Amino acid sequence: MLSRDEQTTPRPVVLGGHVGSSIDCPDWPIWGQRESDQLARVLDSGWWAFEGPAEAEFEQRFAGLQTAHHGLCVANGTVALQLALEALDIGVGDEVIVPGFTWQATAAAVVDVNAMPVLVDADPETYCPDQGGIEGAITPRTKAIIVVHLYDSLSDMDRILEFAARHHLHVVEDCAHSHGSQWNGRGVGSVGDIGTFSFQSSKTLTAGEGGFVTTNDESLFERLYSLRNCGRRRKGGGTSTTPAVQSGNYRMTEWQSAILLAQLERFEEQMETKQRNAAILDSALGRIPGIKPMRRDRQVTRRNLYAYVFRYVEEEWQGLSCRAFRKAMSEEMGLEFGAPYRPLNMSSLYRPQTKQRHHLSDQYWEALDPSNYALPVAEHAYRHEAVRVLHQNLLTDSQEIMKIPKAVEKLRRFLPDLLNWERTLPKGDRDTPPE
Ligand SMILES: Cc1ncc(COP(=O)(O)O)c(C=O)c1O
Repeated sequence: MLSRDEQTTPRPVVLGGHVGSSIDCPDWPIWGQRESDQLARVLDSGWWAFEGPAEAEFEQRFAGLQTAHHGLCVANGTVALQLALEALDIGVGDEVIVPGFTWQATAAAVVDVNAMPVLVDADPETYCPDQGGIEGAITPRTKAIIVVHLYDSLSDMDRILEFAARHHLHVVEDCAHSHGSQWNGRGVGSVGDIGTFSFQSSKTLTAGEGGFVTTNDESLFERLYSLRNCGRRRKGGGTSTTPAVQSGNYRMTEWQSAILLAQLERFEEQMETKQRNAAILDSALGRIPGIKPMRRDRQVTRRNLYAYVFRYVEEEWQGLSCRAFRKAMSEEMGLEFGAPYRPLNMSSLYRPQTKQRHHLSDQYWEALDPSNYALPVAEHAYRHEAVRVLHQNLLTDSQEIMKIPKAVEKLRRFLPDLLNWERTLPKGDRDTPPE
């Protein structure tokens, strides 16, 4: 016999119900007259690239947002990582500790400077790099750690900096997901030696493409400047004894800076809205059995979110797979409840052994193989646990955002039916999602 709830609640969409509960939220990116005006200004000025006024203003404002002394626009977030490593003089023979749970660029940048990325697993409560993993990966060749502030979590910078200082390692922060976030009141990207950012179209501050580097160190800044700009010395920067460096063109255009200046006007309000809604979700989802919000460290004094992520515990849903849950939620709400990144040891987009120029030696080649690594926490998160909601879906009000926990509760009420439904899914639905 149907329970009272089942009689009064419409069935979930995947069980034939008609009433979904989509959230009233914007598509991404968001733009308007401000962006048009900024672009027109660049057009009319004829100064379309190479250290124009929009770039200078944006560099100053964005470095300020991240509480960094210096900031430079670069072509994209991948290049930002590569230049950071080159500025730190990392290359052949060096090892760099890199999270295995990230976008492929974080590790690919290390390979592109001829160093060895050493993959470490994720912390099960934040999905950022695991401290024990970092400590276990160190060898006499380790030169640096790249930490990633992943989705809506920040890496534990206190512990990482303490460890790095003890072992004389550089720290690069990959902040592609965390524009505006702060650790103990300091903007991310200004806590380690160098911070890197992406303005690619899915990011929370975007010009379609683009990137940024931040640092507090004067000599690293001069070197980063030269590296992004064909080796040129900065006018009025450095001294005649600052060593020259060979490089290429990694600059950004004035169009992108103009768009970013306009986007910056909307940014703080968007970040506040997302922070508020993330707190609502943490508290409401945290009350539902089998759902666990991510750990929120008290040192995170301001949080931007590239995505809202929560953990689903299959055992507490009588074995209903996370994949089936993601699918049922996506259909219920008409928006994506997706999987996180595929860990780098199983990613189809991290294949360093497919380029001969990486074949520096047989030993290096063999050590590059991503399948050398076991990343059980990241693999479990990807296959069975993590559920990712895009940041723009949090740009809404508290009533709308509450539709998410309500939809989860609804699915839970229909759990036996969902278990039967999962058995009918075609095999493809059980396979790993595409990248
Ligand atoms: C964590 C992380 N690092 C680096 C990048 C690379 O940035 P870009 O796409 O601008 O090259 C991305 C982009 O998705 C990212 O998510």
